[in-house]
Amino acid sequence: MVDQDVREQQLWAIDDTEEAVDEVERRKPYQNYLDAELGLRNHWYPALFGQELREGGTRGEMLLGERIYFKRAGGAVYAVEDRCRHRGAAFSAKPECYSQNTITCWLHGFTFDVRDGKLVQVITEPGSGAIGKINLKSYPVEERNGVVFVFIGDMDPPPPLAGDVQPKFWNPGLKFHPLMRHRINANWRISAENGYDAGHIYAHRNSAIVTELNIPLPLGTFSPKKEGVVVYDEEGPSPKGVVKLQGKDVQVWSADVEDQTVVAANIDDLDNPPEEGADIDVGLFMPCGLEVDWFPMPGMIHFEWYVPIDETSHMYIITQSKYCETEEEERAFHEECENWLGPLVWKQPNGQTDYPGDGPTWGFNNFDSFGREQLEHVYAKEDWWQEERLYRPDYIIVRWRMLVAKHMRGIQKRGALKRGNWANTDGWSPDGKGYSPRRAPGHW
Ligand code: FES
Ligand SMILES: [Fe+2]
Repeated sequence: MVDQDVREQQLWAIDDTEEAVDEVERRKPYQNYLDAELGLRNHWYPALFGQELREGGTRGEMLLGERIYFKRAGGAVYAVEDRCRHRGAAFSAKPECYSQNTITCWLHGFTFDVRDGKLVQVITEPGSGAIGKINLKSYPVEERNGVVFVFIGDMDPPPPLAGDVQPKFWNPGLKFHPLMRHRINANWRISAENGYDAGHIYAHRNSAIVTELNIPLPLGTFSPKKEGVVVYDEEGPSPKGVVKLQGKDVQVWSADVEDQTVVAANIDDLDNPPEEGADIDVGLFMPCGLEVDWFPMPGMIHFEWYVPIDETSHMYIITQSKYCETEEEERAFHEECENWLGPLVWKQPNGQTDYPGDGPTWGFNNFDSFGREQLEHVYAKEDWWQEERLYRPDYIIVRWRMLVAKHMRGIQKRGALKRGNWANTDGWSPDGKGYSPRRAPGHW
């Protein structure tokens, strides 16, 4: 039996929504979300950075359990399934291209047009009767602000990309820098929730950026019901998301533990803490993108995504942006990202998880990843989607789950190809190391 006070805390987190919630059936308002461990079908996802594909270059990725092969041809990026229709070899295992618009399978020479997936030649049987009769699944692709997006689903034509991207991604004057792309061993939902988890900033009190920029970071924040939260929930093609207005939050600057007082980072005078938290809006948008305006400094907007690779891992991709008026400013911004920001967001602490002194600290974002990987086991294996005991700051997380459950266009499932299900790749990759972005610590 759950203690009644704990139950009330949980209900606090969900009772302020339009949908009535049955006290006994806590799962009810977002069961779809709980079922979507492999991601949401019929949405756009970032797949990689444009700079990773030179003209003629190819690359295999696995997203939502689907093997996808990308090629840049004539400037544009195209994507088809990474599985030859002849006998199933992966193109990415040994890339071969004889012409700008084609890819050739290294095993028997089936050659497909990468723009639409059609079989156009067979090297080992020129003029084969199979030509024009079989084709690869072809994926819609759009490249914007240095990010290559791919649509994973069946809708033809696909819905507009803008409905699946954080709204400020299109702000005029922003310049973008691809910061990093890593595989993280946690379900995508754990990480999406962590990205704007109100209470988890406690864990960042010693992160390198906080220390370096001397940011007076509260121990915790939470929004009084609704006031500090904006829900983007209109019907139609506009982006769906939940934005937390940190400037309107209740800020926690200290807490007593027996005879000890725990104080927030970079606070000189506890009797006069900042009246408000920094004016930072943190928004989580469907299908899996975070927008932080501003971060880490005013004038900069930070974008990141948690794209499912499979049920237990996702791709963590970050692009940093800044308002730049001149080419000189833009050049300086790229240099700043390469030399300063990149190393600060992804920094190893030499095995230490907490450093109250002046010692080496975690980077901001690999520390988030550390936390996400720590939660993965209990959510995957011990049903903590049900066992978790939420508290008031978790309101925004519950609000996010309900929003996703309401607006998702589908749930990605594994199953047989002939039933139109493309998410068949489980535990296999061309080189035996997993379809994955760069794993090693480092930045772009
Ligand atoms: S498996 Fe690709 S050509 Fe045979
Ligand atoms: Fe974080």
